[in-house]
Amino acid sequence: MHQTQRTRRTVMRTIAALTLGALVPLSAAQAADKVKVGLMLPATGTFAALGTAITNGFKLYVDEQGGKLAGATVEYATVDDESDPSKATENANRLVTRDRVDVLVGTVHSGVALAMARVAKSRDTTFIVPNAGADDLTGSLCSQNLFRSSFSNWQPAYAMGKAAAERGHKTVVTLTWNYAAGQEAVKGFNQAFTEAGGKVLKDMALPFPNVEFQPFLTEIAALKPDAVYVFFAGGGAAKFVRDYAAAGLKDSVPLYSSGFLTDGTLKAMGGAGEGLITALHYADGLDNPKDKAFRSAYAAKYGMQPDVYAVQGYDAAQILHAGLKAVNGDVKKKAEMRKAMAAARIDSPRGAFTLSPAHNPVQDMYLRKAEGEENKVIGVAAKALADPAAGCAM
Ligand code: BEZ
Repeated sequence: MHQTQRTRRTVMRTIAALTLGALVPLSAAQAADKVKVGLMLPATGTFAALGTAITNGFKLYVDEQGGKLAGATVEYATVDDESDPSKATENANRLVTRDRVDVLVGTVHSGVALAMARVAKSRDTTFIVPNAGADDLTGSLCSQNLFRSSFSNWQPAYAMGKAAAERGHKTVVTLTWNYAAGQEAVKGFNQAFTEAGGKVLKDMALPFPNVEFQPFLTEIAALKPDAVYVFFAGGGAAKFVRDYAAAGLKDSVPLYSSGFLTDGTLKAMGGAGEGLITALHYADGLDNPKDKAFRSAYAAKYGMQPDVYAVQGYDAAQILHAGLKAVNGDVKKKAEMRKAMAAARIDSPRGAFTLSPAHNPVQDMYLRKAEGEENKVIGVAAKALADPAAGCAM
């Protein structure tokens, strides 16, 4: 046979084999050999560092398992969501439809996560939220496919309101970015504070992610409340605390917040955050072996200490692993996998937790005090706090 005829025949045979291979259904063993995770997180903007910490935490856990969860190799597709709700549906669709991810993981911003939840639900994609606290995610939008490894906005805010009242304050002014997370945090804080007999003098807000705080600081000084409660996070939080101190308010009007104000931001505050009291489901100096191991592994891999966002990323991977274990890594067995995720007990660096029937962590809310670059645990503001999950029907 002529050389070119032989080459042509070999090419034809190869094409036939590849075509046949594509038509033959994958066996269970083959199907189980990978899981594609879509990481939709901010890589730019005021929440960029939070997105990086979540990614680091998620990948640390997967790498500790040798890159596989229950035998399935983990592959990633990523999108920078820019914390922009107007781009959220398109970004989520890109991961689910174009990249065909098996599991969607994201994000930081509540408004973006609410749009992701709708996309995930419409495509029956398993969705794990590693930060965004929007109460509705595990409230009116609760769903078999949706899990949260973080918190609801109500949880740390409610705990802080309770603690602020216990510290003897009678009047408060609140300030936040005007979007779901801030509005819900203020609502949770005010609920606990007023239940305990406190009075809210004024709720104030500015658009996300604006950082022109001066007019609000002037008004706080004029209103003279016993204390101030705010919700800010990331780069904006560091700027707010620096401005609060520069306005001379830090020593006259105690400032409280959900712990996002000071988690991962104390260094950027350059000392202005020293002594701030916050409530959160993670703290520095927790006395549990899991946290010690996690912190040294994180520091060895990334050259810095982890924060709450890293913990939430790590635990998102743990929740997924619990599900995949129940189906031998076969992510296509959605119902069985989700049942195991819902029932999992997660050995978290924050302390072990389980998920509520609405798939939100039931967890302790620590009271913390900023010392140097750490948020040192000084007590428990609310023990095993479960979100009320208003409107959840599953
Ligand atoms: C949120 O949008 O839900 C959020 C953002 C940053 C920190 C905490 C919550």
